[in-house]
Formats: sequence, C-alpha cells, structure tokens
Amino acid sequence: MKYSIKNSSLITLQKEECLVVTVQLGKKQTSLIKDIDESTKGMISQLLKSGDINCELGKTTFLYASPNSPKILVVGCGQAKNFDINAAKKMIQAATKELITKQVKNISWDILTLNPAISGEIAKQLPQITSELTYSFDQFKSTKSEKPSLQKVTLLYSDKKTIKHVESQLSQGQIIANAIVSTKNIANMPSNIGNAKYLAEQGKSLGKQHSSLKVTCLGEKELAKLNMNAYLAVGRGSANESIMTVIEYHGAKDKKAKPYVLVGKGLTFDSGGISIKPSAGMDEMKYDMCGAATVFGVMQAVAELKLPINVVGVMAGCENMPDGNSYRPGDILTTMSGTTVEIINTDAEGRLVLCDALTYVERFQPKTVIDIATLTGACIIALGHHYTGVMGNNAELTEQLVKSSNQAGDKAWSLPIDSDFQEQIKSTCADIVNAAGRDGGTITAACFLSRFTEKYQWAHLDIAGTAWKSGANKGATGRPVAMLIQYLLNQK
Ligand code: BES
Ligand code: MN
Ligand code: ZN
Repeated sequence: MKYSIKNSSLITLQKEECLVVTVQLGKKQTSLIKDIDESTKGMISQLLKSGDINCELGKTTFLYASPNSPKILVVGCGQAKNFDINAAKKMIQAATKELITKQVKNISWDILTLNPAISGEIAKQLPQITSELTYSFDQFKSTKSEKPSLQKVTLLYSDKKTIKHVESQLSQGQIIANAIVSTKNIANMPSNIGNAKYLAEQGKSLGKQHSSLKVTCLGEKELAKLNMNAYLAVGRGSANESIMTVIEYHGAKDKKAKPYVLVGKGLTFDSGGISIKPSAGMDEMKYDMCGAATVFGVMQAVAELKLPINVVGVMAGCENMPDGNSYRPGDILTTMSGTTVEIINTDAEGRLVLCDALTYVERFQPKTVIDIATLTGACIIALGHHYTGVMGNNAELTEQLVKSSNQAGDKAWSLPIDSDFQEQIKSTCADIVNAAGRDGGTITAACFLSRFTEKYQWAHLDIAGTAWKSGANKGATGRPVAMLIQYLLNQK
C-alpha cells in the first residue's frame, strides 16, 4: 500500500478513481464537498437534505455522479463536536471495509481536513487500520485469499501548518503497521514449523536486514553453561532445542547508554507437559510464543524508526511437552539466580523460562526491563480480551506503560502486586513454588517473576487475553506491539 499526502485544493474529480469524502453533523461541510456539489449540480446537498446520505458515524454511501466519472464514497463522521480519535478510527474502519468490498484500487480522502488537532493521530492510525483489515495468513491454504485491491491512498489536507507533523506520523504509522504484520506472521506459524530454531532464524534474518541490529542465539549448551536450569527444564521433554535469541540495537549517541530491555515468552507450543492440558482448545497453545513475536516486531520497528536509544530484545524460545525426559511436578529446580523452585504444576512453565531470561538480562545493566508473556488464563478472567495486564516493581514505569497504551489505542490496565500476594508462593521444601492456586493467578505469577527482577526497574505485561483471537477469526492480533513502540518513542 502506498500512502501520500496532497493539498486538497489540487484535487480534480476526473483524475481520482474514488474520492472519499467525509460529512459531519452540526458543522459546515468541507470545501471538497462544496466543490463536488457544484460540479454535480447540487446532487450532494439534495441527498443530504433527503437523508439519502447518512451523516451518522460510520455510515457510508456510494455515489456515481455519472457512469464515466469516478466513484464517490461519502462517509459519516457523526456530530462534529464528538469527533475525536476514537470516532475517527470507527469512521476509517467503516469506510475501508466498504472500499475493500467494492474492490477500489486508488483513493483520495479528505480525512486531514476534518480537525487539524487530531490530523497527526489520524495519519498514524490509518495505515494500522487498513493493514489490520487487509491482513490474511494464507500461506498454508491451497486457494489463497484475494490480494487486497486497495493500492494507493492519498490523504488530502488543507492546513499547511501541521503538514510536517502529519507526514512524520504517517510514516510512523506505516512502520508500526508493518511491525504488527511481522509479529502476526511469526505468531501464526504452526508449532511444527515455528519452533525455537525458527524464531532464531527470523531474528538472524532481521539482523541481516539492519546493520544497527546484532543478533546472538544461545542454544541448550550455552544455556546450561549459564545455569539457566529452569528454562532448560521446561524444554527438556521436547525434541526441539530450546534457543534464546538476543537482538541488540544501538541507536543512542552514547553506545554505553543503558538499554531498554524487552523479554518475550516464546513457548512455541505449550501442551502443559506432564500436567497436561485438556485437548479442547489445546491447538491455541501454538500462540504461546506471542510475547517473543511481539519482541520481534518491536525490534524491527525500532531499527526502522532509527530510535536514538539502545534497546535489547530477547525471544525466549522453548517447547513444553510430556516425555520420559520431561520435568515433573515435585521436582526442585535451581534457577540461574540461585533461587530454588518447587514445581507444583508443569503447566506453569512460562514463569520458569522467563525467570532465567530475566536474570540473564542483568548483564545489560538495563534502564528498564519489560517482559511480555501469554502467562495466565486468569488474566482473561480478570481483564477479558480487551486489556493487557500491567504489573511491576516501579510505579512510574507501569504508569508510563498504561499511558503509552492509551496513546496507541492498544489498551492495558494495571493490577496490584503487593506483599500480601507473595505469601501464596511460599514452598515447604524450596524457596518458592511455581504455581499458587486459582486466587489472583495473574498476580501470583507476577510475584514469582518479581523475585528475579529486584536489580532493575521492571514491568510485566500479561497478554494471555489480547495476543490472539479464537473462533471464526482465529489468529494473532499483533498486540501489544503498538503500545510498546509508543513507550519507546516516548523515551527519546
Ligand atoms: N500459556 C498458558 C496461559 C494461557 C492459558 C494463556 C490459556 C492463554 C490462554 C500458561 O503457560 C499456563 O498454562 N498457565 C496456567 C498457570 C497455572 C497452572 C498456575 C494457567 O493459566 O492455567
Ligand atoms: Mn502452561
Ligand atoms: Zn504457557
């Protein structure tokens, strides 16, 4: 998809394949509407008057002025005074769906003439919305889904003052959209192909595309040398090797500036292990590596945006399988940090992989560390499929993350982890247990991680409810890529 920006006064009705024009209630219509109205002998004003053009938010009307002239799509924005970025997103979604159905190839849209105050945000969201609506994962289908027809999108503006800002937001929006696509593609890969080695290969090929990225892969031998015994125990029942992929980005002028570190849970399949999961819905545990896929997408965007900071991304690749060699309930593991863990449930494996990865990243002397994990089913009970759960050991960091999530329209909500919950992970025979019963399951999982993150500012994102969709639209969502990119953009 090609995006460009153009002055709305330069538009000629004849040249455009499809003109998308917005109409609002309680406000004068745009100058473009007036122009079209004049050149169509008052057609638009008549249709507005008769109610055949509906101005309510998200209502669309296709017009053909004459058989040879371009199509016109009129999109309702609702009441002008209520037109904020959320209304704009709904309007863009509705219009884009209609354009896809009608197989339009080339559009000019007066979307930047509505409200200069939110034009930047609109320009940033538009590529993400179109990309979401045109995405398909059909690599394994014999009959491929039709290629999206929409190829060229021209955004019309009237306010010259904001144009520089709008341009940069538009290019940011495209980079974010592409990062989300990369995350979805990796996350949607089935486990027979998308194993830890696959994650490592994806990481290495990203490194080849960007000289600013350095990629290192640690296999089981290296992980053993580092005493990452909890991580290794989880992968021991699998025929696929556990591999931790580390992507380093140096963009700060000061090469030694403390990096922002992201650690992604990369369970390429989570069967539960010996504490095996019920079979219904187990297929969806191929998505248990969405944290790692998120890290991949964010690192791609960081390199493309050339952010002036240092960032390290870790994809903790691993597979949890039942086998004669698997770890068992009752086992006691000594983690890389020395803390011992009594295994109560081998299905609480994410925290075991993460705890060693979180100890490993101490070596980067991080500014902040954020882990991203499809960690607990309990998070879906708490926040549904709408909000990512945010926890951590530093209020400023968790507040910044929630703020970034609001800015990006990629919602997140903060949950408490105070010392009351720590009681629940006590063990009778080791330092802590890996599973603490149903009560506050999302929080006790975070409490477990908090024992391994005392040396730095840390936040944990539980994306169990937000990383993928089930049912007819089954597939990865690419969340919370947008929120994390926003967080890093805010650090410049
Ligand atoms: N990957 C799962 C969490 C999960 C479950 C995410 C369903 C999305 C949908 C995780 O490894 C897990 O199995 N967690 C257990 C923890 C429990 C055994 C303490 C859970 O949530 O049931
Ligand atoms: Mn599990
Ligand atoms: Zn899991």
